[in-house]
Amino acid sequence: MEKVRVIVYGLGSMGSLISKFLLEKEGIDIVGAIDIAKDKVGKDLGDVLGLERKFGIKVLDDVNSLLSKISADVAIHATSSHLKDVYPQIVSLIKHGVSVISTCEELSYPYFSEPKLAKKLNTLAKKYNVTILGTGINPGFLMDTLVITLTAVCHKIEKIEAIRVINAATRRLSFQKKIGAGLSVQEFKEKVKSKQITGNIGLKHSIAMIADALAWELDGISEYIEPIVSNKSVESKEIKIKAGEVAGLRHKAKGTMKNGKMIVLDYQAYIGAEDEYDAVRINGIPNVNEKIQPCVNGDIGTAAIVINSIPKVLNASGGLFTMKDLPLPSATTVDMRKYIKHYRVKSL
Ligand SMILES: NC(=O)c1ccc[n+]([C@@H]2O[C@H](COP(=O)([O-])OP(=O)(O)OC[C@H]3O[C@@H](n4cnc5c(N)ncnc54)[C@H](OP(=O)(O)O)[C@@H]3O)[C@@H](O)[C@H]2O)c1
Repeated sequence: MEKVRVIVYGLGSMGSLISKFLLEKEGIDIVGAIDIAKDKVGKDLGDVLGLERKFGIKVLDDVNSLLSKISADVAIHATSSHLKDVYPQIVSLIKHGVSVISTCEELSYPYFSEPKLAKKLNTLAKKYNVTILGTGINPGFLMDTLVITLTAVCHKIEKIEAIRVINAATRRLSFQKKIGAGLSVQEFKEKVKSKQITGNIGLKHSIAMIADALAWELDGISEYIEPIVSNKSVESKEIKIKAGEVAGLRHKAKGTMKNGKMIVLDYQAYIGAEDEYDAVRINGIPNVNEKIQPCVNGDIGTAAIVINSIPKVLNASGGLFTMKDLPLPSATTVDMRKYIKHYRVKSL
């Protein structure tokens, strides 16, 4: 039985980590790599990943020229957050008969912000018999899929709350900058206004996905992003923050129904967070209180869940899926081929 043939599409922080994890997996062959960054195009994948090995896989900037030469079962896609931006990239993969697993936040539940594009993707994926999935740690798992799963033991539910608290000092510099660490409160507010600081893209999508799973018709979803201001000096390896400066952010979103039932997601990421955790609290019959401490590492968790979704996607029928539509997520710790049941993998 041949290995599952994978393309890595986007070789930034996530795509690079995903590629390194893929290289450690049994039953998988990376058969192609795509990125548009000038410092990556034309280089061997091993050089782009900073490994002391060459793989004979040249990074290309054109998916059509890659797929005119090779075939692949699935692309792991990690380029950007908004569906409008990644839509043409995903369409070109579909048209070459390649399934897609993407970290694009809006694709985790595209019916919320891009229902028209979602419909088009679903139609196209069915036509070409490929499966499309958006996933990741958040959106994708901790504040939606896991929450939905925990509701399974409830007879009645009044309120669902999920909280994620991350010490940003443990994360890469680009993440620390993304949450405004080191800014003054004024600078932070300006960057929120100009959408340079966006909080967690996908928080509203997670609420919409939970509501959909429960068939709750929400009245609306509101959200706010506020700075978390440090009351003492704190620092990461790269940034020093004085008392009174922004250490990070809190992004809170709330979906409510007319009858008072609600879903609240509270995402906090800041340098100096002493108590890092992921929690889900359900007020209902029975109450459910779950806590993971410390919080799950976002980068590792994203790379892992994306790869672990390969068999779920390849075993599914053609179409656009979300995490709530696929079988229970689980790890792939042995040869990937052991999890593939469906003939649709071209190389099997
Ligand atoms: N769902 C989740 O839980 C989750 C978790 C982590 C990340 N994400 C999202 O996943 C995406 C990737 O994350 P990241 O941290 O790896 O981002 P990143 O470091 O910016 O990497 C993105 C890479 O894709 C390349 N790229 C951009 N547009 C492209 C295109 N049209 N064709 C080919 N390559 C293209 C970029 O090149 P340039 O640098 O030249 O633009 C860059 O090399 C982000 O949108 C991030 O927010 C989601």
